[in-house]
Amino acid sequence: MKTVLLVFGTRPEAVKMCPLVLELRRRGTVRPVVCVTGQHRRLLRDALEVFQVTPDYDLALMEREQSLDALTAACLTALGPVLEREAPNLVLVHGDTTTALAAAMAAFYRHIPVGHVEAGLRTGDLAAPFPEEFNRRAVDMLSQYAFAPTPEARENLLAEGFDDSRIWVTGNTGIDALRYTLRQDCADPALDFLAGGVPVVLTLHRRESLGRPMEEMLAAVRTLAADMPGLRILCPVHPNPQVRKTVYAALAGQENIRLTEPMDTVTFHHALAGARLILTDSGGVQEEAAALGVPALVLREKTERPEGIQAGGLLLAGRGREAVYTQCRRLLEDEVAWKAMRGRPNPYGDGHASERIAEALEQL
Ligand code: UD1
Ligand code: UDP
Repeated sequence: MKTVLLVFGTRPEAVKMCPLVLELRRRGTVRPVVCVTGQHRRLLRDALEVFQVTPDYDLALMEREQSLDALTAACLTALGPVLEREAPNLVLVHGDTTTALAAAMAAFYRHIPVGHVEAGLRTGDLAAPFPEEFNRRAVDMLSQYAFAPTPEARENLLAEGFDDSRIWVTGNTGIDALRYTLRQDCADPALDFLAGGVPVVLTLHRRESLGRPMEEMLAAVRTLAADMPGLRILCPVHPNPQVRKTVYAALAGQENIRLTEPMDTVTFHHALAGARLILTDSGGVQEEAAALGVPALVLREKTERPEGIQAGGLLLAGRGREAVYTQCRRLLEDEVAWKAMRGRPNPYGDGHASERIAEALEQL
């Protein structure tokens, strides 16, 4: 039986790769081996627990405030022996993280084919998101097989000369994950908090927004909470120490804002599903908002997920204090504007992406 080595290391990769791991195990037609780099520790552990996936290898690489270069070097060095030992027929990586880049490089150096899940996303700007736009382009360049979540992602690959016969349009496995989590019952004090008013969910963590842009966006949220006391704003704070410091400095102590530790994905998805409005700079949360039909403001200058904007469920708000405040207020007060964004078509998949990827692997 052929061996497929799935390498991932962060929360979003785990949320989107675990449905594929489960599908490959269910079918039993290839031998899936899971190697986590541990680029994330707690976030990764929590996501693996949700899907009850125990990795075959855990390289446990995370360092506090890790630098991109040190982490990349550590991943490359630690992945070598795993590749030697397993000699996989294919390495599957996901998205645009340091783990994905390093795993694709390590496989490439050993002439092992690479398959890229969530291939073809682009902003066209290497500075945003940083460094992810570089990572995803480099991973696509190193990949033999591209699993593009949308037709637009396929178009991006074709425009860069990727051979069409090696692209599969599959939908995003993140939507498969959402089907898995929302099937489960869920009760949590954070959900009770949201139920006490107009529920808003906020997440922020992008490297290129650290410092001033993040402070501006958070200042907008703080003013909004003060001006609209009926809001209940839930913000699970990313464990990056720089993010934590900025978020707590800006938002702590406001009665209608609840800052929490990162939430388990089942509870978090239930919180998103019940929200009136989502504010986020996350990649995965943009897709989840669109899939749930919940209006979302994307707190960035650019997105690699323009399909949701075109479909009408997501709106690019930028990072300026005024713009973020005004757009939030408009959507929270103008029922017509809110309804125009509610329940728009979801362009990110039907929740069966893992099956399509597994079928493609069987054909290969
Ligand atoms: C990385 C990904 C980004 C993704 C994000 C998801 C890259 C280049 N970026 O962001 O695409 O959106 O993860 O969250 O790979 N930390 C903990 N515990 C954890 C995880 C992180 O304490 O479980 C802290 C550590 O101090 C760590 C820091 O957060 O050093 C930053 O983690 P890192 O994976 O380097 O984050 P980003 O590069 O910002
Ligand atoms: N998520 C979670 N708990 C939280 C916040 C996010 O489980 O407290 C999930 C979210 O539903 C999505 C993924 O984490 O599936 C997104 O991760 P993140 O925003 O860290 O990374 P990105 O998607 O931007 O790469």
